[in-house]
Amino acid sequence: MIWLSVLLFMQASAADKQIERGQTLFFAEKGCGTCHALKGKGTAVGPDLRALGKVGVRAVVTAIRASRTEYVETIKLKEGDPFPAMKVASTEAATLQYYDLSKTPPELRKFAPGDVESKSDNSIWKHPPSVGGYTNEQIADIVAFVRWAATGSRKTVDPSDVE
Ligand code: HEC
Repeated sequence: MIWLSVLLFMQASAADKQIERGQTLFFAEKGCGTCHALKGKGTAVGPDLRALGKVGVRAVVTAIRASRTEYVETIKLKEGDPFPAMKVASTEAATLQYYDLSKTPPELRKFAPGDVESKSDNSIWKHPPSVGGYTNEQIADIVAFVRWAATGSRKTVDPSDVE
C-alpha cells in the first residue's frame, strides 16, 4: 500500500511539473497567451480553449497545429490594405470589432459596417504554432496546462501522443 501511495505521489508531482512548464510556455512573450485567455490571464483574441478540455489529447494537438482556419477572415476596408481579422465575440450591432492579426500583438479595430469594402476567407494568416517553433515535449506540456486549466485534471501528457 505504501508503495502505491509513493507511486501515485510521484505521478502527481510529475503532472504538476509538466503543467507548470506548460503554463510558462503558454504565457511566454509571443506565446499562446498573446491570443488566448486562460486562468484570468492572456488576451481572448482566439477561441476560448476551455471548450477543448473534454476532448482527447490528439484532437487538441490537431487543433493547435491546424493550418486551415475556421473563423479568421480577410477584411478589406474602403481605405488601407486587407488584413486577417478575428471577430470579437460580443459586439453591439452599430460598430464592428475585429482583432487585426497582421499586428503583434493583434490590434483591436472598430469600424462601421459601411466601411467594409469586402470580406473573404482567410488565405494569408497562419496559426503561429502551425508553422513550428515548438518541440513535441513543449506541445505536450502546453496541452497538459490547457487540460488542467479547462477541467482541473492533473494528468501528464506523453510527448509520443502529440506527434
Ligand atoms: C497571434 C494569435 C494567436 C497565437 C499566438 C496563438 N493562437 Fe491559437 N488561435 C488563434 C486564432 C485567431 C484561432 C482561430 C483560428 C480559426 O479561424 O480557426 C486560434 C485557434 C486555436 C485553437 C482551436 C480552437 C477551436 O476551438 O477551434 C487552439 C486549440 C489554439 N488556438 C491553441 C493555441 C495554442 C496552444 C497556442 C500557443 C502554442 C496558440 N493557440 C497561439 C490565435 C492565436
